[in-house]
Amino acid sequence: MPQTVLITGTRRPYALGFNLVKRYLEHGDRVLASIRRPSEALEKLQLEYPDRLYVLTMDIASTASVNQAAQEAARWTDAVDLIINNATTASADTMKELPDFDLDLIAPAVNVGAVGPIRVLKAFLPLLKKSKMGALVVNISSEAGSIGKCYRTFYLDYGTEKAALNMLTMTMRNYFRNDPNFNIICVHPGWIRTNPDNHEAPLDPYEHAETLRLLFEDRRHDKNGPVFITYEGKPYSW
Ligand SMILES: NC(=O)c1ccc[n+]([C@@H]2O[C@H](COP(=O)([O-])OP(=O)(O)OC[C@H]3O[C@@H](n4cnc5c(N)ncnc54)[C@H](OP(=O)(O)O)[C@@H]3O)[C@@H](O)[C@H]2O)c1
Repeated sequence: MPQTVLITGTRRPYALGFNLVKRYLEHGDRVLASIRRPSEALEKLQLEYPDRLYVLTMDIASTASVNQAAQEAARWTDAVDLIINNATTASADTMKELPDFDLDLIAPAVNVGAVGPIRVLKAFLPLLKKSKMGALVVNISSEAGSIGKCYRTFYLDYGTEKAALNMLTMTMRNYFRNDPNFNIICVHPGWIRTNPDNHEAPLDPYEHAETLRLLFEDRRHDKNGPVFITYEGKPYSW
């Protein structure tokens, strides 16, 4: 049965969000692709899928913007079956260590990377509740958000926002525990070649988007399994 999927952070054609959009469209689903500034790649894709792709402008750092986007989405679709919170941020200081890191950059990063996904969940909840197949929210996290396995001396912003996202995911899992039609997980997606200059990362974004799509379908109704998982579906250390 075709589903309606909302994916955030979908502007860049070589990044994960855009390739997830492509994979869901190719699979026959309807997609709300969110961006914060125009995307030529999405505009081209829209010519191919005029009825099944809706491009939504949404700044996940702003509650007003997210609420407005949810109202706009409700004019296009009666329900949302899956949200993939993929958008994230890192500051210019992300690779720096304590002496050189401007600590005032951490809170804005947490606002985007951790609060943003929950803002989206809250605003789109009326549409999620109308899902007939059972709604799933996937928060794209990272191994960098694991406190147990933390080894870095940098990523003060990125690591903190992903750890906070993991905490919010678990708290939402608890909150929706008794709702048989709602599930939420957070996923370390693996090291993906989402930057054209990065040839080291082993995973191709288009190929890997399909691996993730299949994983999310597998976990839709799994309310008793691990909450923080790898792209192979294995539990990851909080
Ligand atoms: N790539 C990897 O190897 C890897 C590894 C572990 C985890 N991850 C996670 O996987 C996800 C995708 O990674 P990626 O490398 O493909 O990321 P990316 O392209 O850098 O994606 C970030 C997207 O988020 C958007 N964004 C930033 N701030 C926003 C805001 N305030 N409101 C709305 N959108 C905003 C950006 O928009 P603009 O395009 O307008 O800047 C961008 O399109 C991320 O959550 C990342 O943390 C990736």
